[in-house]
Amino acid sequence: MKSIILKTLISLFSLAIFAVLGYAGYQYQQISNELARVNAENDSNSRLGAKQTVEYQGNIKQLEDSIKQKDAYITFLEGENADLTRSLADERGKTQGFEEQVSIIGKTIAEIQKIQNTDAELLKKYSKVYFLNENYKPAALTTIPSDELVEKKRIIEIHAKVAPFLNAMVAASNATGTPIRIISGFRSYEEQRALKTTYQVTYGAGANKFSADQGYSEHQLGTTVDLSTEKLGLAYTQFAETKAYQWMLNNAYQYGFIISYPKGNKSYQYEPWHWRFVGIALATYLHDNNMYFYDLDQRTIDTYLGKLFDDHI
Ligand code: DAL
Ligand code: ZN
Repeated sequence: MKSIILKTLISLFSLAIFAVLGYAGYQYQQISNELARVNAENDSNSRLGAKQTVEYQGNIKQLEDSIKQKDAYITFLEGENADLTRSLADERGKTQGFEEQVSIIGKTIAEIQKIQNTDAELLKKYSKVYFLNENYKPAALTTIPSDELVEKKRIIEIHAKVAPFLNAMVAASNATGTPIRIISGFRSYEEQRALKTTYQVTYGAGANKFSADQGYSEHQLGTTVDLSTEKLGLAYTQFAETKAYQWMLNNAYQYGFIISYPKGNKSYQYEPWHWRFVGIALATYLHDNNMYFYDLDQRTIDTYLGKLFDDHI
């Protein structure tokens, strides 16, 4: 009996062990399958991930290439832009240069026209170098107002274009209380010849020291005046001692007048009364450089012809 029970117990125990083992095996199989499935899935995912990574890298590369191309294009455009800017600047420069040239040519033409319209004789050195024939007269003469004269009843003429400068100078000398007055102005060839003859009768060859031969006098140009004062009258050789003369030395250049024959000049004796109009520009140049008209060479003097009647420098 005992052995039957024992055998039954052993059988039951064996059955239980087999059942447990069977279940464990089944569980193991299930877990293995699941593991295999997860691994497979992971593999698949990582293959997919790797594939996507490769794709992304490809896209990034494309984008980088595209950016590089665009950068290159921008650099190219910048270069083009720089070229265009340079070309534009060049063209502007050329246009400006052209405009400047046109302006210079315009000025030169205006200057040439002024020179052509100005009597070149008016700036020539008439003391023994140049000669005016008996027919020479200034283009237009005008009568000097009588209140500017020493001898009120005389008719004394001056170059019409010099008259405004002379009138302004006389008015300025009046205003400063050192009035200048005029004794002589334009003298024709014939008048100069007659005057010189008179002087020669009195002074002989000595007349050559203060009186020009006909054709050689600045007075024939109509731009020259002999000055004195009301008080001095015709004793104008003493003009050098007057305040009016000092005023002239300091101010005449502002009205275009210069002293032709200062002390020590090579042409005539000292003639403080004799003043010639040469234009404000040249008179100012001479004043500022402490020089005299006859110190300059004719070529230098001629460069002032275009400015002769300018009312400013
Ligand atoms: N007194 C000057 C030199 C002239 O006669 O022109
Ligand atoms: Zn004179």
